[in-house]
Amino acid sequence: MPNTIVKKKGLIPGRVSEMIISAPEIATKARPGNFVVLRLSPQGERIPLTIADTDPQAGTITIVYMVLGKTTAMLEKLVQGDDILDVCGPLGKPTRLDKVGTVICVGGGTGIAAMHHIAKGHHRVGNRVVAIIGARSKDLLLFEKELASFCDEVLVATDDGSYGHKGFVTEVLAKRLAQDAHVGEVVGVGPVPMMRAVAETTRPFKVRTIVSLNPIMVDGIGMCGACRVTVGGKTRFACVDGPEFDAHSVDFDELMRRLGSFREQEQASYNTYCE
Ligand code: NAD
Ligand code: FES
Repeated sequence: MPNTIVKKKGLIPGRVSEMIISAPEIATKARPGNFVVLRLSPQGERIPLTIADTDPQAGTITIVYMVLGKTTAMLEKLVQGDDILDVCGPLGKPTRLDKVGTVICVGGGTGIAAMHHIAKGHHRVGNRVVAIIGARSKDLLLFEKELASFCDEVLVATDDGSYGHKGFVTEVLAKRLAQDAHVGEVVGVGPVPMMRAVAETTRPFKVRTIVSLNPIMVDGIGMCGACRVTVGGKTRFACVDGPEFDAHSVDFDELMRRLGSFREQEQASYNTYCE
């Protein structure tokens, strides 16, 4: 069955877009925390994208992507009615949704969209959900309205102070944790430096903290080893053992190093595509 783009919306013009894609089987089976792997052409690379939302009745899934390289630039050229060659999923382990009372979900940049589905899952099991979302400036902030529709609180931070707290999401998180001794869990999704900072912020509070890792992936089913991460000193494959892991045990230095392994080739491929 073709994976047709049912709707496309530019969230941040030229930089971040949302696509609603027809994928009935994935929409029925996907749980918060799952992701899909897309391929746009037979020889093309495979890119993992977290599922931001699903609509099982309509048979659709929502993805949000930032135009970063050749494949996301190709994706950005597609319009409503076009088909995506492959959408493979749902992949990865779903979020563990325990009833813990209050859960703080922290999202940074495009990571907010991925965090949205996890936050919704916590809301559905009856947790009190506090969303802390951050972007460089107000115009780059995603999903505030969507989160406000079900979260108990939405707190905002912008690096430049154009909206909400001036500074990082972790500053808001630290303040919230100091005020509230009953937080059962913290979830962080966003750039790696943010996820590392979330882990260091919650460590002294001894709160269970989960991050959704975004290493390079190829097959997404545990065969290639590309998504290898070290958690608690053990090798894990983010596509099958994760992508969510205990933040306090992740080797973030290794993750950063491995994410940068093909930066030159990625840039060269993007430059050639743009010529
Ligand atoms: P960004 O660099 O604009 O950062 C967004 C926010 O994160 C900042 O406003 C700040 O509040 C926080 N942040 C950033 N660095 C921080 C630090 N050192 N300490 C504390 N807080 C910090 O984000 P972007 O350019 O939108 O990039 C989004 C990133 O999220 C991409 O790298 C993408 O790969 C990643 N992402 C991850 C997932 C996932 O599943 N983990 C999903 C989608 C996107
Ligand atoms: Fe290949 Fe995870 S992407 S093992």
